[in-house]
Amino acid sequence: MREDNMPVGKTIIAKGFEPDNFICWAELNDENIMRLDLQEPGVVYEILEGREEDKCYGIVEKTIKTSDRDVISEQLSIESAKEPITASVMMLRVIRKSGVTAPVGRHPIKLADASGIQTAFNIKEDGIPVGVYTLLSGIPPQTCVVKLPFEYVLGPEAAHINTGGQTGYAKTAWNLLCCRAILSDKELSKETCIIAFNVKADDLLWVDKENTELKSEDLELYKLMKLEPKPFEDVKIFAPEHPVEINEPNSLRFDAIAFSWRWNDIKDQLHFAISPEDWDDKLEALLTDLCSIEEIQSFDDAILELEYMIREGERGWVTSRTGATHHSATALKAKRILEGIRNRFRGLIEGKSEPLPIEDLLVKGRLSVIDVQRLSEPAQRLVFSKVHADTIRKLEEGTAGVKKIVYLIDELNKFAPKAAKPPISGIRDIIDDIAARGRSIGAILMGIEQYPSQISDTTTGNVSTFILCRMKAPELDAHLYRGISNQVRQVIQRLPKGYAVIVHDTFTSPIIIRFPRPPCAQHRPIEYDLLSYIASKTPRKNRADVIKEFQKILKEKPYEELREILHKYIDQGLLPKDLVQAYLNEKARAGSGHVKRS
Ligand SMILES: Nc1ncnc2c1ncn2[C@@H]1O[C@H](COP(=O)(O)OP(=O)(O)O)[C@@H](O)[C@H]1O
Ligand SMILES: [Mg+2]
Repeated sequence: MREDNMPVGKTIIAKGFEPDNFICWAELNDENIMRLDLQEPGVVYEILEGREEDKCYGIVEKTIKTSDRDVISEQLSIESAKEPITASVMMLRVIRKSGVTAPVGRHPIKLADASGIQTAFNIKEDGIPVGVYTLLSGIPPQTCVVKLPFEYVLGPEAAHINTGGQTGYAKTAWNLLCCRAILSDKELSKETCIIAFNVKADDLLWVDKENTELKSEDLELYKLMKLEPKPFEDVKIFAPEHPVEINEPNSLRFDAIAFSWRWNDIKDQLHFAISPEDWDDKLEALLTDLCSIEEIQSFDDAILELEYMIREGERGWVTSRTGATHHSATALKAKRILEGIRNRFRGLIEGKSEPLPIEDLLVKGRLSVIDVQRLSEPAQRLVFSKVHADTIRKLEEGTAGVKKIVYLIDELNKFAPKAAKPPISGIRDIIDDIAARGRSIGAILMGIEQYPSQISDTTTGNVSTFILCRMKAPELDAHLYRGISNQVRQVIQRLPKGYAVIVHDTFTSPIIIRFPRPPCAQHRPIEYDLLSYIASKTPRKNRADVIKEFQKILKEKPYEELREILHKYIDQGLLPKDLVQAYLNEKARAGSGHVKRS
């Protein structure tokens, strides 16, 4: 779009105009009448009212085009002698810099400059940069970085950003960018840590690796947003211990820090790990009873205790050593469930590794990723509830080393679905609590899911910033989106990757943004299979050094030399041929498309 300082059209008073609404109609001049880019939703005009002390702007909400004889054509009949007879009028949302809300008369309009766009949408100078104002036809020349107000991202005004949209339309990518923007802010990074849960796939596991997919357009966007396209520096990746390989993480990341919990660590969260079909109040009562018995120190103790109770039981009832009575059937069920957990959660519980070190999560400026991707849903719930309980306690006690914790949860639908039975509803209550109350204590939720309409109402009701990536019509028909105009909903259905619509409490209208690919890798780096193989063949104690050395070779040696070195590795039986070949092929391919950063 041309940045034009000349008027391109004028406002008209449409029939039915009411002086108390803040909408007006406008049309383009003859020479611009065919310019579709000037009529897109989101275009901002300055309405030249000629008042020295105030400025007036109009954001295009919709454009009505017609070639029929109807009210609008009638209205435009004097000017619509041109062929084909297609009249278009634009509906503008009117905003004045002064905040005055008066009707608009007939005035020329021109494209707003960047500061006009800021005023029109109420984008503040200060804030967290999350993208660049754009239109579906591309970024207009009046570039305007969209910033979210600090107090609406990290409290106290609000503390929940939610991202929804179809798979593959850069939801996770936007959240990684937003995390980068938060931690790149000098002040925020002094008091904030981020804890991300890698629930599905592996796209949160490479946050400390370079994104080799960045294109020159991404780098431009980073420059505009004044962010560095660099991976996260202070990163810790945690994963439960592997069920079979002692002390090794159950993760694609061979270098993740393995953790394992004992009975006492997780007995308070145990009920979250039970499936809804098994759950009932009687079972809950029995588990609570078992957890209160100090002599029980392990799953084996708990199972032995139940066996003893069952043996000693009479006429369908059992009594625990606290004196409480339970149905025998409940005791049998509890025994089966605890045995199941002990066997299926092996590694995550009662492995050889230390428990997850909570203090290591609560370090300012750090992004920690907890990889639960390989766990079953009940085990994922257990991990989330345990990490949440321990971290929030420290935050509330004021012993947390940080003032704010951002919980980044991909697949929020697994934790906070609208329709949920216990114990899943218990997890949903935790999420609801963060969304509703977190802002006052420094607990911030960044939730991601495909269908925000399927998330708990309390959670979505407390969203101050919605990031809507491409969505389909049935989702957009949900009650949740009733405040969004049909035109914006149509835009959302057409958004390409890297575009989103932001609906934010303090913005006057939804804003279409363009954002760059994330600053870190979202896919497994091409060398990872080699590193992982070498790690598996190297004893733990010198693994870090060997890997570091090997990484250096991969990074620094020119292609031909590297090829020779790797073939030597094959000859010495240190690497398998197919892995090396796959790596070299990919490297050759990536080498041709990769943009080098200065
Ligand atoms: N800003 C962007 N512009 C264009 N493509 C992008 C952008 N961010 C990510 N992508 C591409 O889109 C793919 C899907 O992104 P992802 O964040 O995994 O989507 P989702 O979480 O919605 O499933 C990424 O693998 C990446 O290649
Ligand atoms: Mg994703």
